[in-house]
Amino acid sequence: MTATVSGPLPLILLGAGGHAKVLLSLVRALGYEVVGVCDPGLVEQGASHWRGLKVLGADDALERYAPDQVELVNGIGQVVAGNLRQRVHESACARGFRFPALVHPAAWVDETVVLEEGVQVMAGAVLQPDVVIGCCSIVNTRAGIDHDCHVAAHVHIAPGAVLCGGVTIGQSTFVGSGSTIIQGITIGESALIGAGTVVVRDVPARGVLIGPSPRAKGVVGS
Ligand SMILES: CC(C)(COP(=O)(O)OP(=O)(O)OC[C@H]1O[C@@H](n2cnc3c(N)ncnc32)[C@H](O)[C@@H]1OP(=O)(O)O)[C@@H](O)C(=O)NCCC(=O)NCCS
Repeated sequence: MTATVSGPLPLILLGAGGHAKVLLSLVRALGYEVVGVCDPGLVEQGASHWRGLKVLGADDALERYAPDQVELVNGIGQVVAGNLRQRVHESACARGFRFPALVHPAAWVDETVVLEEGVQVMAGAVLQPDVVIGCCSIVNTRAGIDHDCHVAAHVHIAPGAVLCGGVTIGQSTFVGSGSTIIQGITIGESALIGAGTVVVRDVPARGVLIGPSPRAKGVVGS
């Protein structure tokens, strides 16, 4: 008897902003079939197509598809203090839809790394041994996550951010572009780290850290 070999399911993209654009580039680089895009803004504009994709409708267009026919790509970016991305993910999961973890072919992900459902790893990112990235989190363009870092669900590691080894990041935290978190630091859930910030102490849940440490006065030596 010959077993049926099935490939990955076709995808539907949710959202049509900048983050969605980058994800469309990623899934095309991976050779996925993309059925179309759902976005209320495109429906309002009366658009029939977006970047070569058919506009399927707003989010309710998903009702025409069964969860065993298609998988979803969450193209909604995680902006600071916003939770639309998480709400869309949870509502689609409750209806039985799945979000595959996506890794750009130009990212390096060590074979021991654990990526939970819906994680998005963009071009140029590097994930070193024993890293865990939680559900629906984004590791954005050129971000570096070194060994033994644990990133919880719905986190955004923005472009070019660096997590040195053994860093722990709580759920729904935003780590701004170009920031550096030194080794062993723990950042609590729903925290905000501004772009370019160097984090050298633990940050509590809902903590906000923006810019250089108050002690960083450019003085080197005694
Ligand atoms: C931290 C952040 C959210 C603050 O935004 P905001 O509340 O709108 O702040 P404002 O732009 O009004 O700036 C307020 C003050 O903080 C300063 N500031 C803002 N962000 C800063 C940063 N990252 N580093 C240092 N100073 C910063 C501003 O210069 C301003 O100073 P001033 O009052 O002396 O003029 C934002 O600046 C930031 O860093 N966002 C992350 C960007 C990013 O990583 N994007 C990736 C998208 S994929």
